[in-house]
Amino acid sequence: MKFESNYRELESQYIMPAFSREIMITKGSGCTVTDADGKQYLDLVAGIAVCSTGHCHPKVVKAITDQAAELIHCSNLYYVPHQGTLAKKLVEISGFPGKAKAFFSNSGAEAMEGALKLARIRTGKKEFVACEGGFHGRTMGSLACTHKPAIRDPFMPLEPYTKFVPYGDAEAVKAAITPETAAVVLEPVQGEGGVIIPPAGYLKQVRDICDEKGVLLIVDEVQSGMGRTGHWFAFQQDGITPDIITIAKAIASGFPMGAIVAREGLEFGKSEHGSTFAGGPIACAAALASIEVIEELLPDVAGKGERFRAAFAHLNPRVKGLMIGITIGDHCADVQKECAANGLLVNCAAHGNLRLVPPLTITNAEIDRATGIINAAVSKFART
Ligand SMILES: Cc1ncc(COP(=O)(O)O)c(C=O)c1O
Repeated sequence: MKFESNYRELESQYIMPAFSREIMITKGSGCTVTDADGKQYLDLVAGIAVCSTGHCHPKVVKAITDQAAELIHCSNLYYVPHQGTLAKKLVEISGFPGKAKAFFSNSGAEAMEGALKLARIRTGKKEFVACEGGFHGRTMGSLACTHKPAIRDPFMPLEPYTKFVPYGDAEAVKAAITPETAAVVLEPVQGEGGVIIPPAGYLKQVRDICDEKGVLLIVDEVQSGMGRTGHWFAFQQDGITPDIITIAKAIASGFPMGAIVAREGLEFGKSEHGSTFAGGPIACAAALASIEVIEELLPDVAGKGERFRAAFAHLNPRVKGLMIGITIGDHCADVQKECAANGLLVNCAAHGNLRLVPPLTITNAEIDRATGIINAAVSKFART
């Protein structure tokens, strides 16, 4: 379908101004996108860690189009094609022991809603402990566990009640837990917070504290999961098993989908949760194809991350596979703009941190081109 050429006017008149945007992306292939004026960019944003298989991967496109020709939607009142196969696959790649199960949603925030509801209903407790700098979504429940005051405060009071503790400080988690705490909620690497990697051993310490106190551990893998850090899920590097994980973003290569996986014995009973669209046949087909592609890419993710690390050695990068953060400071937006002018899309997360979350398909040549553009932009603004 041809895109509308008057998109700027239509947006300013008819779309609520919640986003600030400069370009319209009209086409994507692999690591490259094209804008409405025909300009090409190397894309290190990838829909913010969504398009991990690259834009329009042929296997994903085929899975979506084949399924769309068969059945677009079918209510969860019925068995849904591919849903069981995908749930089995998610349980397998999560590595949860025993009989873990999945529940589907349509986004990361909704996955978090499901996780919070599951924690409350199975523990009978009301409170949560989450981390400063953490991001878990913008729906009322997930927002209650999201820390950033600018996006949270206008919507107070929020439910559930959440206590925030410094990220990376296991003792602070311990001190914040009360007899009313249902779960601790955290990201294994904070994405929106600026690609913040906690100290080694943090997740294990929090796991031990949760076990000791009888509190559930919810690990938000929405951004860090599905191969992004070189493992299927970032928690797997820490040798722990959470009680619940949340998944979204890259799960279906950009077709909207989310999911939770919960350990054996932790599940919704009849009518305790639900959704009209969640786990629909196209989303499931797209996710199964995406998992097949990511499986092939996974062994190379860590090495690609190391190539970024070497190119940015002078900038002290934080690298977990292909989740890369560089603290730029006040000039982050200038660097982002300069990169775009030079045909590279990058994005600033919180506190002046440049965040790079490219497709896992990125080649060495593309990494070298991207790091060259970024280094030039950073040194230009370091001088101003
Ligand atoms: C860690 C994390 N959790 C949850 C979310 C919310 O996901 P969504 O935007 O799909 O609702 C995000 C989005 O950036 C995220 O990074």
